[in-house]
Amino acid sequence: MDTATRSTTPGNTSAAHVTVEPSILYFGTPVVLLSTENENGSFNLAPMSSAWALGHVIVLGLGPGGQTAHNLRSRPDLVVNLPEPAQWPAVERLAPLTGRTPVPVDKRDTFRFEPDKFAAAGLRPEPSELVRPPRAAECPIQLEARAARVQPDASGAFLIVEAHVLKVHADPRIVVPGSQHVDPATWSPLIYNFRHYYGLGPELGHSFRSQTPRQAH
Ligand SMILES: Cc1cc2nc3c(=O)[nH]c(=O)nc-3n(C[C@H](O)[C@H](O)[C@H](O)COP(=O)(O)O)c2cc1C
Repeated sequence: MDTATRSTTPGNTSAAHVTVEPSILYFGTPVVLLSTENENGSFNLAPMSSAWALGHVIVLGLGPGGQTAHNLRSRPDLVVNLPEPAQWPAVERLAPLTGRTPVPVDKRDTFRFEPDKFAAAGLRPEPSELVRPPRAAECPIQLEARAARVQPDASGAFLIVEAHVLKVHADPRIVVPGSQHVDPATWSPLIYNFRHYYGLGPELGHSFRSQTPRQAH
């Protein structure tokens, strides 16, 4: 059994903390579904959660052996589809699949090849406007994007992809009427929290820079 050790370091003022060695550090980031183009012109769809935005650049952390990484090295177009919490079963249907054949050796025990991941997920491909891979129609936010840099991470075990967002599609349900703003009251990301799926809890407050503040409630 894994056991945590109590910290006895003299300078450690947080006596209640213990030192642990978790196998993964997925501390709760949104799940995205990446659509990319395969070499034969078909399309792949893969879940990932190491994704975040710097202005209109999306930064992605990818395992180098997957089909998504393979695709982005030679075909930079992609769509970053954001599912909502209720769609976690569709994400989990994709979880044991890879679009890569033969399946990479390190994945053979746990993953199987699937050429049509949209169908496997139960999601409908919908044409994009500026890039070749389709959007996942049911996802409330879809970002058409193009990878500008694909390079190794500091450990050499992953790839960091930086992609420019070219177009943002949003379900009208999550847009503040008459504005360009996504309404944080109606949009919730699906969060991957140490390999468990969560939605957001109720709003706690807002930043002083919010452009969508609401009356206290
Ligand atoms: C919720 C979730 C989050 C994931 N996050 C990542 C991630 O951030 N980076 C990554 O490379 N793989 C991630 N994976 C694993 C990939 O989905 C998996 O390696 C898949 O086989 C890749 O598909 P592909 O080979 O068709 O590209 C995640 C899987 C799930 C279900």
